[in-house]
Amino acid sequence: MTLPPRVKLVEVGPRDGLQNEKQPVPAAIKIELIHRLQAAGLQEIEVTSFVSPKWVPQMADNAQVMAGITRKPGVRYSVLTPNLQGFEAALKCQPDEIVVFASASEAFSQKNINCSIAESIERFAPVVQAAREAGIHVRGAMSCTVGCPYEGEVAPQQVGYLAGLMKGIGVQHVGVADTIGVGTPLKVQRALEATLKHFDLNDVSGHFHDTYGQALANTLISLQMGVWQFDTSVAGLGGCPYAKGATGNVASEDVVYMLAGMGIDTGIDLDQLLDAGAFISEFLQRKPNSRAAMALLNRRGL
Ligand code: HMG
Ligand code: MG
Repeated sequence: MTLPPRVKLVEVGPRDGLQNEKQPVPAAIKIELIHRLQAAGLQEIEVTSFVSPKWVPQMADNAQVMAGITRKPGVRYSVLTPNLQGFEAALKCQPDEIVVFASASEAFSQKNINCSIAESIERFAPVVQAAREAGIHVRGAMSCTVGCPYEGEVAPQQVGYLAGLMKGIGVQHVGVADTIGVGTPLKVQRALEATLKHFDLNDVSGHFHDTYGQALANTLISLQMGVWQFDTSVAGLGGCPYAKGATGNVASEDVVYMLAGMGIDTGIDLDQLLDAGAFISEFLQRKPNSRAAMALLNRRGL
């Protein structure tokens, strides 16, 4: 078995993590979190989304957060853009990467972005074109690649269909997302295989929510397939407001701990990552949703 010697983590806590919080999180807290994450060695940070503030009020401060970050050389900052309106607003904030997001299931596409899969691709096409002309990297997120909160199981063929559409409009990299965390390793493997028919191994990442406690196992099987890029969220924050019952992304601390134990380099300082997770958890007045973080924090207190 050959495993990738190095793994790249995309920290999605500030976006996927905080978008789902009911209580307002001030821009200053988000900015401080991002500063702590980059200090811990994260080189890819998903900062915010340029979506409708009526749909996701927590991301309404997108421009303020982007403007408030002291950018660290070598770190790439990405934002979600669902349409040209969002892209134009994002462009003013100079993101390094934009993310268009579609669903492998029709019902979730309607609930999350108020259009069909085909319509979403039509909407994304000019966004992708404009981004690429501006020299901005384009990532695609594919939701519900193993299960949908409205339709149940999602077949790998649907994932392959969506991956083909994304490739067709010029998306450069896709994330295979288990939005509601129902996936188990072989199902995730099939979703990845369907994606790999359209995208190179180096252009595919995993985005696993941990609702059913399967995300580390899903990460491991992805690694065994050679996938080396993953979205993770500090303190296990996260969830999508339009995917009821879904909890956070796999915790960055859990993934960094696992990879360090396997001798796989991430360039991330687990101690500083723990501090970042403790900072945001304290603000949210709860404990980090990460077994590794809790164990390590408890050990610190001994
Ligand atoms: P819509 O209502 O169909 O849009 O929403 P519309 O084009 O008809 O416009 C309606 C109103 O929204 C107008 O304002 C527009 O100006 C405004 P009004 O005239 O009524 O005052 N509007 C916007 N405002 C700001 N920024 C924009 C924007 N676009 C329109 N970009 C829309 C369609 C896509 C906008 C809406 O459905 C939306 O914002 N959805 C976002 C949902 C979302 O953010 N979900 C979470 C992120 S995805 C996720 O978490 C999954 C992921 O983690 C992977 C995984 O785990 O699966 C990535
Ligand atoms: Mg997500």
